[in-house]
Amino acid sequence: MSDMPYLKIEKNRKTLMVDGKPFVILGGELHNSSASDLDYMKEHVWPTLRKLGGNCYLAPVYWEEIEKTKGQFDFELVDGLISQAREENVRLVLLWFGLWKNGASTYVPAWMKLDEQYFYMQDEEGRLLESISPFCDEAVDLDKNAFSHLMGHLREYDKERTVLMIQVENEVGVWHHSRDYSRQANEIFDKEIPEEISLLFNNVTGTWEKAFGKKAQEYFMAWAFSKAVSQIAAAGKEEYPLPMFMNCVPNSMGISNLAGSYPSGGPLVSALKVWKAMAPEIDLYGPDIYIPAFKAISSGFAMDNAFILPETTGDKNCISKALFSVAAYETICFSPFGIEMLMQPYDERDLLAQTNSDIINYSPEAGESLAEAYSLIKALQEEIREAREEKRIVAFLQEGELGEEFHLGDYIFQVVYGGTPPIPWMTTQVPKRREDAPIGGGFILQESDDTFLIAGVSANIEIFPKYGKTHQTFILEKREMILTDGRLQAGRNLNGDERNFFVLGSRLTIQRVKLYNRYN
Ligand code: DGJ
Repeated sequence: MSDMPYLKIEKNRKTLMVDGKPFVILGGELHNSSASDLDYMKEHVWPTLRKLGGNCYLAPVYWEEIEKTKGQFDFELVDGLISQAREENVRLVLLWFGLWKNGASTYVPAWMKLDEQYFYMQDEEGRLLESISPFCDEAVDLDKNAFSHLMGHLREYDKERTVLMIQVENEVGVWHHSRDYSRQANEIFDKEIPEEISLLFNNVTGTWEKAFGKKAQEYFMAWAFSKAVSQIAAAGKEEYPLPMFMNCVPNSMGISNLAGSYPSGGPLVSALKVWKAMAPEIDLYGPDIYIPAFKAISSGFAMDNAFILPETTGDKNCISKALFSVAAYETICFSPFGIEMLMQPYDERDLLAQTNSDIINYSPEAGESLAEAYSLIKALQEEIREAREEKRIVAFLQEGELGEEFHLGDYIFQVVYGGTPPIPWMTTQVPKRREDAPIGGGFILQESDDTFLIAGVSANIEIFPKYGKTHQTFILEKREMILTDGRLQAGRNLNGDERNFFVLGSRLTIQRVKLYNRYN
């Protein structure tokens, strides 16, 4: 029996520990329905994941599948999935699709859907939402019961610790509406705020509206959901205390600040204060990033010095985001969504391809290039972590800007993404990128005073001395670095034509450069 995975918390930094060592989950999340059929998994999923070479995948456990009859549990599907993962020599993160999945109660067992005592949320006009209200204590109790059965089962079945973490529910919140307007919710909304909320916000008093004005609906729902999730997670942890996290739909910053335009009461940065206080059983919160504000959203969630990315768009830009994430944060998990399709060409016959526009962005090249990033990160995991601690690494990611500037040791690095060089005194010609190139992304890691490892895609690097015009920076040696059998090895000596430009191509480019400064 192996040790249980756990989160090591030191210096305000959280690290996932597996088999006694730090573990970075480099994988992806399966499409929602894949894990409901073990034969489908065998035929369509594992063969493509093998090519990606991730170390852990995120897969759902569906409440409706494990408790088809009230009180009778069947874990055949879960056990089958775990056995398959073991055969593939990878780990799993299980996603508990319980009371709420994307704000809806679509995965609760049929016998609950047909029983009106488990009441649904309502919108402003009294229309039912397809989602059980977090104020329905009986439903929360049933979720607690099912989840604790699942965790108890994992404790017994998974002595090998194939399962590393659990996501509790999925993208919780009231979608498209500011709050639950059911009779039961309205009654509570019109009362005084509870003591625990008053204490959390400087002893403010009054009704939710009086106490919080425009934030009232969001805080009210955050309180309701976090109370429910806290009970569910606690019941599960009592059986088997694996690390637990939640994912959320982040606010598309700048578009609207009104709850309802983003899922109201979900564990977004704007409501995390409530969540952290009310649901201490949840160890981590991560955003599902499908919108182009990766840096802003990820930095908001990485405040605890740990970053977990349960979902992001599976496309050619995954490589840039993966390299950026591990260099910028203590990344616990990097996981593009629909990962089993990332390595496959777009297939018109696929059901999902016709309903989800993200699918057409999948391509074998995107998968292969993410696979390269994963093997580099695995090879350098410890060096990257140390360099981050010692502030010897910088991460870059192209998001609208033409370039970024970083200072490391005696040098200034200008990372230029394309178009006209942004700085007038820059000399390098920035080549036009291929249309299908990923966005720029990667890192610069200082190995010693004058040696730097540069890894990334779609960027040009210009290097200058920190001391301005009295000095000039030259290249002593530029070496191509190659990944062979998971280890970084020296390749070509990039002198001559190859030394003139510092170009990171559209596939992963790794170079080690030794620099020197000369006085004028
Ligand atoms: C976010 C959800 O969390 C996933 O389960 C999935 O529905 C994706 N959106 C998009 O298809």
